[in-house]
Amino acid sequence: MLRIAIDGPGGAGKSTIAKLLAKELGIDYIDTGAMYRAAALKMTRLGIPAEDPEAVEEALATTLIDFDKGSIWLDGEEVNEAIRTPEMGGLASAYSALGCVRTKLGERQKEMGQTKDCIMDGRDIGTNVLPDADAEFKFYLTASAEERARRRYKELVEKGQDVNYEKILADINERDYNDMHRELNPLCKADDAIEVDTTAMTIDEVIAYLTGVIKGNAQ
Ligand code: DC
Repeated sequence: MLRIAIDGPGGAGKSTIAKLLAKELGIDYIDTGAMYRAAALKMTRLGIPAEDPEAVEEALATTLIDFDKGSIWLDGEEVNEAIRTPEMGGLASAYSALGCVRTKLGERQKEMGQTKDCIMDGRDIGTNVLPDADAEFKFYLTASAEERARRRYKELVEKGQDVNYEKILADINERDYNDMHRELNPLCKADDAIEVDTTAMTIDEVIAYLTGVIKGNAQ
């Protein structure tokens, strides 16, 4: 099997890179962050805060989160756009610290990783979802917080949103802190992952490097 784990902090380019690489290799792309975002969207709509884990667990028991036709579906509704806001990113980070959320989504991700060749990106893929040798290749993508904030700022401005760079940078630093310091499956580099600092790299350069490693002609 060919399973590739890509972890790293928000805005390091994981999903852009994973999507392109999956296309190039002809395998599935599984965006695990989208699953946490969909769970956060559902809880927000129901008005259940992350401070009430029992209610979150109960609501999650009847929640369906899945990928189909290149989209993410929440209880049968396509939510690609609805989950892709800075607010939902912060909320996903908060709900993802709960054990019931991590167990439910993590189990589903492990299942998906057992049945097909895929690239999965997230925060705990190399350490928890596809640990040890479960993934044939593991990468840990990073970039400076300032560069990640610049990328996110550009992306949101291009979408026509009214955004503030300093606020984006502050949100990135806060989310890094939360994702790296939570008790359960915190963001960290797996011992056997290759770290790639993308601060000064273009997307094409990152893809060329990762493809080289996968095809065995770079390390
Ligand atoms: O990659 P993203 O920004 O879409 O992820 C949103 C949040 O979901 C992230 O801040 C933490 C959480 N997450 C996680 O805990 N584990 C994963 N494997 C993926 C995302």
